[in-house]
Amino acid sequence: MGRKLNVAIVGATGVVGSIMRRLIAAERGNWGEVRLIASARSAGKLLQVGDETIEVQAIGADVFDGIDIAHFDLPDDVSAEWVPVAAAKGVVVIDKSGYFRMDPDVPLVCREANAEAALHRPKGIIANANCTTLALIPTLAALDEHFGLVSMSVASYQAASGSGKEGLEALYAQVQKLIGADRVGTETGDVRAILGEDFNAPFGAPLALNVVPKVGGWKDDGWTSEELKVRNESRKILGLPDLKVASTCVRVPVAVGHSQVVHATFDREVTVDEARRVLNAAEGVDVVDDPANMVFPMPIDSVGKGGTQVGRIRQSIDFPNSLEFFVVADNLMKGAALNSIETADLVRRELEAAQA
Ligand SMILES: NC(=O)c1ccc[n+]([C@@H]2O[C@H](COP(=O)([O-])OP(=O)(O)OC[C@H]3O[C@@H](n4cnc5c(N)ncnc54)[C@H](OP(=O)(O)O)[C@@H]3O)[C@@H](O)[C@H]2O)c1
Repeated sequence: MGRKLNVAIVGATGVVGSIMRRLIAAERGNWGEVRLIASARSAGKLLQVGDETIEVQAIGADVFDGIDIAHFDLPDDVSAEWVPVAAAKGVVVIDKSGYFRMDPDVPLVCREANAEAALHRPKGIIANANCTTLALIPTLAALDEHFGLVSMSVASYQAASGSGKEGLEALYAQVQKLIGADRVGTETGDVRAILGEDFNAPFGAPLALNVVPKVGGWKDDGWTSEELKVRNESRKILGLPDLKVASTCVRVPVAVGHSQVVHATFDREVTVDEARRVLNAAEGVDVVDDPANMVFPMPIDSVGKGGTQVGRIRQSIDFPNSLEFFVVADNLMKGAALNSIETADLVRRELEAAQA
């Protein structure tokens, strides 16, 4: 047997980075060194990876020496600068930012749909899709294989942690400030008046006791970047360049767990029984669907879970080729860290086999 590969978590201090540390700890035996990297602000911090205490190193070209696989959990602009540096040193990079996802020479991988794509990476870079798209893919891939997916209309209900540690802390701070305010939310402008303008960041408006129909930055014609990602990244991962997608992304006052209402249309009529049979057998999908007993997917029940949960499955009354369903996934797990770990597993096996 060859040496064990060395792995880095780049952005180890962030909300995704903290889940990465937990998941790497659970498979610690697969790896040689585990290196933790973040900004110069965090250099010298001591963080846990299971029982091990590891000092955080500041990002720089030298920190990638000796690393085989690096998980990048950084903002887009920081990934844009440092991913090519690591890749040029022969590191296989799995990047969770949006920067490289639509590059034709960068595979966008979700193992339930296109595991083989991880093995063809001309730039040494693999991209992880955005959390909203990843929550959908296992269900869509299974249904597409059997019934031929033609189009989908999606409405998301996205958690505050999708905006990183800043988003999560902002939601908690807003909730704290509103606690004790009697009947707040029942008078025009009362939530804004209590919170003040400081609490508009980072969502652009208060999130506590509210929903905000804007996730990501504004793009042409009134779309947001998140809505375009759902369309473009789903097409790329599923290998369906002509898939018709309509998407509206909404932020809700939930800590962790992205939910989505999906109306999906197929080549042929699909019954609920057929859909259930396919989804019960699908990898990465848990069918949680007993509405009469109040059993359906919800974000509070998705936290920390590996798979994606699907429920409220119905055949559309007026569209026999269409299904309605509700999908929930932990945005920090399948939506980010877990998917990256699963992709790294494919690469680790490939690199270990090459050593043998
Ligand atoms: N949150 C989600 O649900 C989710 C889901 C899918 C994908 N993603 C993507 O995953 C990435 C990380 O997201 P997150 O939610 O974990 O963000 P986060 O909580 O804000 O963490 C950001 C991380 O990046 C590091 N960082 C920031 N500026 C840096 C710089 N100039 N040099 C080196 N390190 C720097 C931070 O280190 P310091 O602590 O030292 O500043 C921190 O470790 C983003 O690309 C995001 O789009 C997030």
